[in-house]
Amino acid sequence: MTNHDISPTLGWDDVYIVTTRDGSDTLFSRAHAATYHSVFGAVAESKHVFIQHGLSTVPPRTPVAILEFGFGTGLNAFLAYLFAINHDLEMRYTGIEAYPIDLQVARQLDYPQYLAFPEERDIFHRMHSETSFTYGTFHFCKVNDFAGISMDDRFDCIFFDAFAPGAQPELWEQSIFDQLFSMTTVGGCLVTYCAQGEARRRMERAGYKVERIPGPPGKREMLRAVRV
Ligand SMILES: C[S@@+](CC[C@H](N)C(=O)[O-])C[C@H]1O[C@@H](n2cnc3c(N)ncnc32)[C@H](O)[C@@H]1O
Repeated sequence: MTNHDISPTLGWDDVYIVTTRDGSDTLFSRAHAATYHSVFGAVAESKHVFIQHGLSTVPPRTPVAILEFGFGTGLNAFLAYLFAINHDLEMRYTGIEAYPIDLQVARQLDYPQYLAFPEERDIFHRMHSETSFTYGTFHFCKVNDFAGISMDDRFDCIFFDAFAPGAQPELWEQSIFDQLFSMTTVGGCLVTYCAQGEARRRMERAGYKVERIPGPPGKREMLRAVRV
């Protein structure tokens, strides 16, 4: 597979919806032959890995800066936004996504309804239809790659949500973790659903202190890497 096999904006020829075990939907990518979230529960996984063991563990600071590698369906971004409004935090969210999905696909996923925040649907849609916006104290920005991010930007929490190393080994290379480490604030962290030994060693080589912690439903462990 090459990047040329993937449309600039992914529609129904590229992805289809899969309902996971907690009743929430995810996408299956035909090009990568992988689901965007765990089939054991898309929302359960996102909440566990990125919110409970990522964002919630960041020392309280406002604004809090989040970088997500693999914006995908926008589920993690939307959960981060809900966290910000629940905790009255100013938040700066930046998502990296090489293959954005169509607004039509995002509408069908309808995470705001599943999460019982239908009144926030407009924000979820704006995450897909706009590359940057500010809503109250929530600042959203979406870029295609690292080149879209200022060299001076630093992040308190990195959601590392690339497809698995087996599906996209190039996104788990040492140079990626070196780059992410240089963008992490002291005391900040990187979290991922993946617990693979080689990924952990690369994070350690980049400079992170890495711990294996209990994973979401269907996964024994996940990784949390801290810049001490
Ligand atoms: C596991 S999914 C992310 C799920 C997402 N965090 C969510 O909440 O839906 C992996 C994502 O990485 C994106 N991706 C693949 N190659 C990429 C690249 N080279 N740079 C940035 N994103 C990439 C895919 O398009 C996909 O959206």
